[in-house]
Amino acid sequence: MSMRRIALIPGDGIGPEITAAVLRILEAADFQAEWVYLDAGLDAIELGKPAMPPETISAIREIGLALKGPTTTPVGGGHTSANVALRKALDLYANVRPAKSLPGVRGPFENTHVDLIIVRENTEDLYAGIEFMPHPDMAQAIKVITRPGCKRLCEFAFDMARKQGRKRVTAIHKANIMKLADGLFLEEFYKAAKGYEEIKADDIIVDNCCMQLVTKPDQFDVMVTENLYGDIVSDLCAGLVGGLGLAPGANIGETCAVFESVHGSAPDIAGKGLANPTALLFSALMMLRHIGEYAKADLIGNAVVEVLAEGIHVTGDMGGRATTKEYTDAVIRQMQSTAVAV
Ligand SMILES: NC(=O)c1ccc[n+]([C@@H]2O[C@H](COP(=O)([O-])OP(=O)(O)OC[C@H]3O[C@@H](n4cnc5c(N)ncnc54)[C@H](O)[C@@H]3O)[C@@H](O)[C@H]2O)c1
Repeated sequence: MSMRRIALIPGDGIGPEITAAVLRILEAADFQAEWVYLDAGLDAIELGKPAMPPETISAIREIGLALKGPTTTPVGGGHTSANVALRKALDLYANVRPAKSLPGVRGPFENTHVDLIIVRENTEDLYAGIEFMPHPDMAQAIKVITRPGCKRLCEFAFDMARKQGRKRVTAIHKANIMKLADGLFLEEFYKAAKGYEEIKADDIIVDNCCMQLVTKPDQFDVMVTENLYGDIVSDLCAGLVGGLGLAPGANIGETCAVFESVHGSAPDIAGKGLANPTALLFSALMMLRHIGEYAKADLIGNAVVEVLAEGIHVTGDMGGRATTKEYTDAVIRQMQSTAVAV
């Protein structure tokens, strides 16, 4: 049987360090793949290419599956984000970001258990990139919300909720102010809900949602929203469960899926061996589940939970003193001892 091919973008800053750590753990779990290394981000820019080169996009389109490290977007200079380019080119319309409390990892609040998933629209909204200056003293950006875009996103969210046995899907919006754009989103949300009678469907205005998330986050289950609100609210949720170092993500389209952490390239700690590889690792576990490798995903996931609960070999962002390598070694040791015990 031929080995599964997976596109791999190590990325910038801490990207190569956390990618190496994740590959070591996957290998130790006996997950075999042919990794196809691709350029994006600063490496591509230095070669005079766009941050997301067309050949990288074509390769991912052909392979259908990618694991991506974070890429730096230089401020100014006309560089567009590699991520925005990739999501648009491959029509990766659903960005899935789970946020779950983990034993041993302290969030900002005691005794609060968070277990929610944000499904964020990934191709429209203010991120459609339609910005212009009609006057030197005025900039305008256009918010694009389409009916087909809302329909497929909301159906994706309900479908995912059903498959995972989730009980509630909440739409986040600002339809009280953006009556047409967010009104359209809300209309399609409730239309989609009709096909999923067993799941409770409700909605919340984005500002109230933020307040509720920091006061009573355990009330939420699956949340579905437009691009900009989802970008902001999902970082807030990452903060609720221990920070960006633990927040994974998946970008899903009809024919391709790209898995990447929520965080960026963290240039402030790059090359120091301090980065937490868990967010990229959890993204890789989402990828394993996406391709049906449940047992390997569980083996690795359980080992991570044990190492975090023990709290000794964890990186600085999780309150420990371990380097990326020491933490990775601890996860591999834990996995091997679990495998022996079984
Ligand atoms: N998906 C992506 O590729 C992606 C996402 C967000 C930002 N970016 C890019 O990344 C660059 C840096 O952005 P930023 O500084 O605003 O955000 P960032 O997420 O890179 O860093 C924010 C803070 O979190 C810390 N941090 C992030 N990930 C960590 C990890 N795994 N372990 C330990 N600490 C971690 C950093 O040290 C920093 O203090 C920018 O160029 C931005 O455009 C890329």
